[in-house]
Amino acid sequence: MTEYAFLAAEPAETARVAAKVAAVAERAVVGGQPLVVGLSGPLGAGKTTFVQGVVAALDPRGDHYVTSPTYALVQTYDTQPRVAHLDLYRIESLEDLESIGYREIYYDPGGCAFVEWIERVPEAIPDRWLEVRMAPQPSGARSISVRPHGAALCVLCREVLTA
Ligand SMILES: Nc1ncnc2c1ncn2[C@@H]1O[C@H](COP(=O)(O)OP(=O)(O)OP(=O)(O)O)[C@@H](O)[C@H]1O
Ligand SMILES: [Mg+2]
Repeated sequence: MTEYAFLAAEPAETARVAAKVAAVAERAVVGGQPLVVGLSGPLGAGKTTFVQGVVAALDPRGDHYVTSPTYALVQTYDTQPRVAHLDLYRIESLEDLESIGYREIYYDPGGCAFVEWIERVPEAIPDRWLEVRMAPQPSGARSISVRPHGAALCVLCREVLTA
């Protein structure tokens, strides 16, 4: 299984890795495929920081204010492609996720979804998705591993992430 590993010593470096993933999302959606990106890692790992970096990369001149959707559950940003930011920390079942209409979000042909705590509802994870794992290191840096699932996404990541 392919995995791309990065080390981010500070939040600005997390944003740089996020910009690479934003480029993957951009290419995927232009190709007519929605993209689900799952963000995993402990509380405070930098998942929301990562999404801030994605939104900034997709619309550098926009003044989007990206905050944690822990209570709202989902927040959307009018970028190109549009970004839906979800936090499933408070979600306990597929039923809960269905009540927020997750299918329209995960399978939005004009958009990408960035999902914190995606592993809380594993049955909803599509076959094709990008797994991003963030882990704080003893130094305070974050290791960030990016793992594509699905053949077409593997090809796209090879092109975009190794460039
Ligand atoms: N590469 C990095 N190095 C050091 N600190 C970082 C890095 N990336 C993000 N941070 C910091 O980690 C803190 C927590 O970030 P953030 O809120 O994004 O985490 P989270 O994973 O979304 O947390 P939660 O699980 O509570 O939603 C922030 O203060 C952020 O600036
Ligand atoms: Mg968060």
